[in-house]
Amino acid sequence: MISQSFIQVLLKRIVIVYIIEQIIQLKKSCSYYVACCPFHNEKTPSFSVNQSKQFYHCFGCGKHGNAINFLIEFSGISFVDAVENLAAQAGLPIPHKTVVTPVAERSGFRLGADAAKIDNQEAIEKEQNNQVTRCMIDQLQRATDYYREQLKHATKAILYLKQRGLSGELAARFKIGYAPDGLRNLSQVFTDYDRDESENLLLRNGLIIKSNNGKYYDRFRARIIFPILNQKGQIVGFGGRVIDAKAEPKYLNSPETSLFIKSRELYNLFSARKAIRESGRVLVVEGYMDVVMLSQYGIEYAVATLGTATTPSHIQKLLRQTDEIIFSFDGDNAGKKAAWRALETSLAHLKDGKKISFLFLPEGDDPDSFIRQFGKQSFESLFENAIPLSDLLISGLSSRVNLQSSEGRAALIQIAKPLVQLISAPILKLILVKRLSQLTGINQEALIKIFENKLKNANSQSSKQTENLRLQPISPYHKLIKILLYDPCFVYKLDGDLSFLHNGQPQQAVRALEALVRFYKSLSPPELEAQKIPETLLYFSETIHAEELNKTTELRLGWENEIDLEAEFIGLLSRIKDMQRKERMTVLQNKPLNLLTEQEKRELQQLANSF
Ligand code: UTP
Ligand code: MN
Repeated sequence: MISQSFIQVLLKRIVIVYIIEQIIQLKKSCSYYVACCPFHNEKTPSFSVNQSKQFYHCFGCGKHGNAINFLIEFSGISFVDAVENLAAQAGLPIPHKTVVTPVAERSGFRLGADAAKIDNQEAIEKEQNNQVTRCMIDQLQRATDYYREQLKHATKAILYLKQRGLSGELAARFKIGYAPDGLRNLSQVFTDYDRDESENLLLRNGLIIKSNNGKYYDRFRARIIFPILNQKGQIVGFGGRVIDAKAEPKYLNSPETSLFIKSRELYNLFSARKAIRESGRVLVVEGYMDVVMLSQYGIEYAVATLGTATTPSHIQKLLRQTDEIIFSFDGDNAGKKAAWRALETSLAHLKDGKKISFLFLPEGDDPDSFIRQFGKQSFESLFENAIPLSDLLISGLSSRVNLQSSEGRAALIQIAKPLVQLISAPILKLILVKRLSQLTGINQEALIKIFENKLKNANSQSSKQTENLRLQPISPYHKLIKILLYDPCFVYKLDGDLSFLHNGQPQQAVRALEALVRFYKSLSPPELEAQKIPETLLYFSETIHAEELNKTTELRLGWENEIDLEAEFIGLLSRIKDMQRKERMTVLQNKPLNLLTEQEKRELQQLANSF
């Protein structure tokens, strides 16, 4: 929660003209500034920015608001992100409202003073956190500069890119670089920081990896580097492609870090914003090279997921910026599967008036190879044949049953039910009901009843839980469980140190994680190695942890294409530790100062120092 009074202070402090000028070019005209409106297409400027009143207004499309509104509207970022962005630019720490605990209420007149102190401490913590974030971002920027410089001297890498038809201009636009071979290049680049500190940052950024003998080595070696920008245009991670056809894995990405959360980021979204707005659509493709090549051929509105399935967060982000999403998938089986998943994920977020469709390329082609062969026009003309979501849904379901038999028709309704129920767009829902009615001969009212019936049940515990499950962000605990289920030997990497788990809220997932670790530790090493997921789940099937563990097997995680589980694991552990430190700090800070024991004060001090 950010207080209104802070927002007023912030809006007074910033200079709206400077904020907007970072994004579009403004011209001074009398007492205000003008430009062609970034929110609609126009040739003569009707967008104005009024510095003294601190707002913008477009006389063409009517869009108006303050600097926060502008960032939200233009970049599609959230309110909190917009405020954080502006506060950082203005150099103001954000004082978050503190939750007043009953204890604090009882402490009477001291409350005011303590609350002020707590506010202040939180501001300090926030500031320290910001500082780490800033250092991480700074380091990634410098690593990018380094990789780009290296590309200039890497004959083999340049040759490879040339062979793939990539122009130097495009390589520069996408900040493409090259990580040379060698185990410890980065530590020589980052020498001006304190050595430990820079190592610490490299580790936080996932740029170096700790080997079994405790030495660090570079994650990216002999790979083409694709920097990944977040929605503010900051570099938050990298994708790296081998140039040696035999090397594995083909693509290696940064692990998840506090800056880089794969389920939220989309490659090229930052740079594509303008083109997305102008074309009124976004094209979602599978690979980095697809995006880059499409751009080289003049299709600038393409983005890619980062080796992960499409997530609800991706869909929400994209639908905030445009009314039309076209997913492009390879024509093979894997492509069809990925499309179906994207469809399932989209259902809950689709609104009437928004359009989602699926483009399947001829087998053996991807957008990169297709556009190089046939050019922009041919590629864009494929869009006419893109399959609308509702068609794909119906045809996908129908292909699984035999519509000639009444059993088959009943089965169709059965398998359609959970999907139709996910849909929140009323018109789309009606259209589907109508189509299902035509296919099965069951009349629409009856179908609506069948679907509604279930909807009432949706209030029951179990469907509510499945519903929650779909919408809940995956916690790092669940991810940790998933890795441990997948490869139990990771339990050795916990070093027996699970004590940090007790610092946090006793969540169900944490308990399940502990139980799983305890179970693994009771096994002998050969048993542990041989332990398979179904056996583990069976072992827990009658326990209170069953549900939590089963949940994680259904979760689709971000690393399906990743082989580097180890880096994910390490990243998760440090994220969990960070989270817990924050939780603990909040608990302590919410206590009135006079109720803190000496030990707690020391702990608080230590926690504050550790950020
Ligand atoms: P593809 O295997 O389809 O490769 O992976 P591509 O994009 O056509 O790559 P090129 O053309 O051979 O260079 C699609 C995407 O899946 C992720 C990457 O994000 C990649 O761009 N991926 C793929 C990984 O993360 N790891 C892998 O090992 C492979
Ligand atoms: Mn390709």
